[in-house]
Amino acid sequence: MRVFITGASSGIGEALAVYYAGQGATLGLSARRGDALAALNEKLGGQHAIYALDVTDAPALAIAAADFIARFGVPNIVIANAGISAGTLTECSEDLAVIKRILDTNVFGMAATFAPFIAAMQSAGGERRLVGIASVAGLRGLPGAEAYCASKAAVIAYLESLRLEMKTFGIKVVTIVPGYIATPMTAVNPYRMPFMISAPVAAQRFARAIKYGCSYTVIPWPMDIVAKILRLLPIWLYDRLFLHATRKPRGLIQP
Ligand SMILES: NC(=O)c1ccc[n+]([C@@H]2O[C@H](COP(=O)([O-])OP(=O)(O)OC[C@H]3O[C@@H](n4cnc5c(N)ncnc54)[C@H](OP(=O)(O)O)[C@@H]3O)[C@@H](O)[C@H]2O)c1
Repeated sequence: MRVFITGASSGIGEALAVYYAGQGATLGLSARRGDALAALNEKLGGQHAIYALDVTDAPALAIAAADFIARFGVPNIVIANAGISAGTLTECSEDLAVIKRILDTNVFGMAATFAPFIAAMQSAGGERRLVGIASVAGLRGLPGAEAYCASKAAVIAYLESLRLEMKTFGIKVVTIVPGYIATPMTAVNPYRMPFMISAPVAAQRFARAIKYGCSYTVIPWPMDIVAKILRLLPIWLYDRLFLHATRKPRGLIQP
């Protein structure tokens, strides 16, 4: 099995890399921090390929995809996991660059990750998966998280479009909608995070959904119930419940 993962230098991506390496997979590990990727590769036995790049750099991803395919073959699974999060406020003009950075990384970066693999996956046939990591934060807008919520809502719709498009070619598109996972991204959150699970546990559950080619899954399952209720809440009640929700801190991302 061959698996290409973005955002593999920490958190969920790293846990997915550890999980798939344990299953005997050959991995393409990508993120901006090459040193962290090299350390992970060494921990996993050193036989994997590492690509230090920014997912907003589509030409760099195209080169990485071509290199991975030439060395190991067409991946069975491509996981667009790289993402960033920070509080943003539209009325603060200095946040505009951060809003752009979040949307570029989380939305454009996902398309740029899949794009260079699709033609090869179509030609290769067999069981192939394109996996996108969305978020429960994409289901309703949270105060102070305008860019992150918008990016994850966009990703959910993007993956649904792609799912239909890829069906003709037998490539399954898997939308994973995580609740709270303990990673560096959530370590800075100043609020309670119900049903939180560890990254290794999340990776195991994500991998099961990927294996079965689930179109859309919320993990962990109690968050699925919360997500369904959230979606059903009328606007007046939603506003009442979330108006004073604790905000994610601003200034976590250098644009
Ligand atoms: N943790 C949660 O509770 C949770 C919940 C829902 C969804 N998610 C989503 O899950 C994904 C992984 O998040 P995480 O919690 O594991 O966070 P994390 O530990 O901060 O990991 C994020 C990963 O993305 C990489 N990355 C960020 N910007 C990048 C860029 N421009 N180009 C390439 N790589 C980039 C980071 O590596 P470098 O810094 O080395 O580039 C890192 O490996 C994200 O898409 C996140 O939105 C997380």
